[in-house]
Amino acid sequence: MNTKQKDLDELRNVCNSCMNCELGKTRINIVFSDGNPNSAKAILIGEAPGENEDKTGTPFVGRAGKLLNEFLEKVGISRKDDLYIINTVKCRPPKNRVPSDDEKKACEGYLLKQIEIINPEVIIFCGATALKSFWDKKIQISKIRGEILEIEIGGKIRKCIPIFHPSYLLRYHSLEEGSPRDLMLKDLTKIKNLIKA
Ligand code: URA
Repeated sequence: MNTKQKDLDELRNVCNSCMNCELGKTRINIVFSDGNPNSAKAILIGEAPGENEDKTGTPFVGRAGKLLNEFLEKVGISRKDDLYIINTVKCRPPKNRVPSDDEKKACEGYLLKQIEIINPEVIIFCGATALKSFWDKKIQISKIRGEILEIEIGGKIRKCIPIFHPSYLLRYHSLEEGSPRDLMLKDLTKIKNLIKA
């Protein structure tokens, strides 16, 4: 087993018994990650596990996850090989509410450690919750999505790109120029060009 995998397995074991916040009391499973830590060029950070993720222990497996998969396939990003997928918190918030600042803070060390171990070329903030965990809380995702931000995370300046969350795209079906789905395809194409350059 390589060191990346070993470090991640150790961290996963710590998370499995974590009770740093109230979410530990109601979770079925922690949702640690999905993707290949050895080949991933980008980390995608979502919001929080939902019901299906809590049941399976895997991020983005419900309706939003299926839509994300479709978009990734369309632009030629492999979920399995190109991405390492995590969330701002590892446990499901009851009734799928947005995780609180305290809950995110309690989980932040795990997230930063995963970023440090994977050391990705690009970080994708998938949705407003992920974006606001690292950027100005007043910013609207629609104003900044698709921009390449340079942010110091874990002692290193990293290229970070905010994109819409797929659950937002579930509400808009048009692929017209400038529609949310069209912008998502453009942003993911930009990411693909960055990671496959
Ligand atoms: N939404 C997220 O942000 N993350 C998941 O894992 C599932 C749905």
